[in-house]
Amino acid sequence: MNFNDLRAILQYVPQFRGRTFVIALDGAVIDSPDFSNILLDLAVLRSLNIRVVLVYGAAAQITALGERRETPLSNVDGTGITDEATLEVSIDAISRLSNALMQSLTTVKLKAATANAIHAHPAGIVKGIDARFTGTIERIDAGVLQSFLDQDILPVVPPLGFDADGKTLRVNSDSVAREVATALGAAKILFLSTEDPRASLDARERNWSSESVLEFLEAHPDLPVGIASKLKNGSIATRDGVTRVHLIGSRNDDAILAELFSNEGVGVMVYSDAYQKVRPAVRDDVDEIHLLIHRAVEDEQLIERSRSEILESIEDYIVVEIDQNVVGCVAVHPYPDEMKAELACLFVKKGHTDQGYGSLLIEAALNRTRELGAPTLFALSTQAAGYLEKEGFSVTKDLSELPDSRREKWQSNGRNALILTRTV
Ligand SMILES: CC(C)(COP(=O)(O)OP(=O)(O)OC[C@H]1O[C@@H](n2cnc3c(N)ncnc32)[C@H](O)[C@@H]1OP(=O)(O)O)[C@@H](O)C(=O)NCCC(=O)NCCS
Repeated sequence: MNFNDLRAILQYVPQFRGRTFVIALDGAVIDSPDFSNILLDLAVLRSLNIRVVLVYGAAAQITALGERRETPLSNVDGTGITDEATLEVSIDAISRLSNALMQSLTTVKLKAATANAIHAHPAGIVKGIDARFTGTIERIDAGVLQSFLDQDILPVVPPLGFDADGKTLRVNSDSVAREVATALGAAKILFLSTEDPRASLDARERNWSSESVLEFLEAHPDLPVGIASKLKNGSIATRDGVTRVHLIGSRNDDAILAELFSNEGVGVMVYSDAYQKVRPAVRDDVDEIHLLIHRAVEDEQLIERSRSEILESIEDYIVVEIDQNVVGCVAVHPYPDEMKAELACLFVKKGHTDQGYGSLLIEAALNRTRELGAPTLFALSTQAAGYLEKEGFSVTKDLSELPDSRREKWQSNGRNALILTRTV
């Protein structure tokens, strides 16, 4: 690992400290060989003072126990009808799983406690059929969970709810994760499943806003049920105040840490619309911009800029951020004497490309140019001329489009960049 990678990781730590993350494990993950790594990741999160709540599903264990007992099951994931026999198998499977989880958490020295925090009522008649012992979550006892967290105890929430008479109901764990996260004002939900969400989805769709994920779900009714359920719950959770929801395949090495602390992540994400914004850069953004463009400089897509160069002209920069993380930038350098402006340092972080952020930044750059009173915006590009052409720029050979000082630099630096202009 080089120091830039380490800096990139450490920049997240203050943001996460003291925040609550809900980690939702599919039952199959707990029985998989990946689970030992996940336990270690949980211990790392706790060591960074992140408040972790564990929610788990049990469909795999319920199915297996039903088979062993030769009991026909009416539903295993808490979304359909739960008949009496299925409820009995579910309670037994979930109790065993809960016990196994407690043992595992003890091996990584995490103090944990099972919390009966879900108040539910029978789901009633669903699509004309009585869902029997399937429950709808009414409310979460956030006080119980908070008091565990305050005592440094990791709450473990099983997929069972209790109605006003103390009757047990089977509830769906994806909904539990959403309701728990909303009730606690959690910053994140991380859904872990043995299926790789990236493989189940169109590879280009890695990050969605809460609105756009619903459109995606409507256009793709054939998605695997587990992924669709997590995306839907993710959309509702982000609309209700959770900042980000991540779907991660447990087979990825170091799945949780790689998703949280690497630029590109390993899973897919739903984010709250309120957390995406394009804004002028400020002095505090200098380090993040410098880190952001580092790779593009190595690939010769952008020219190198030192921290102090960025700081000197920080007022020219515009950034796009998601949940307070800068994911893209652009600069508009004014040449007031010649009434010209240059678009430079356009960059969007890998993992966030192809989602229109480049376009948003160009739009903001055009607005800035208008404010400066310049009639055109020019750009010099070695590798993104095709992109800028799509954004309405045209290649020109007319050197008078460049301010005198810029023309000299262009002639002497040997990069042979194309000159592009656009009327604003
Ligand atoms: C160029 C860049 C800013 C685009 O950002 P982005 O957020 O992915 O852009 P958008 O989402 O608005 O647009 C994506 C579209 O542009 C296309 N595109 C991306 N880079 C391109 C390039 N170099 N040439 C041609 N088209 C390109 C994508 O294929 C995609 O096409 P589609 O919409 O037809 O599927 C980003 O890829 C980047 O940072 N590149 C490295 C740095 C760089 O070259 N900067 C430009 C310096 S002038």
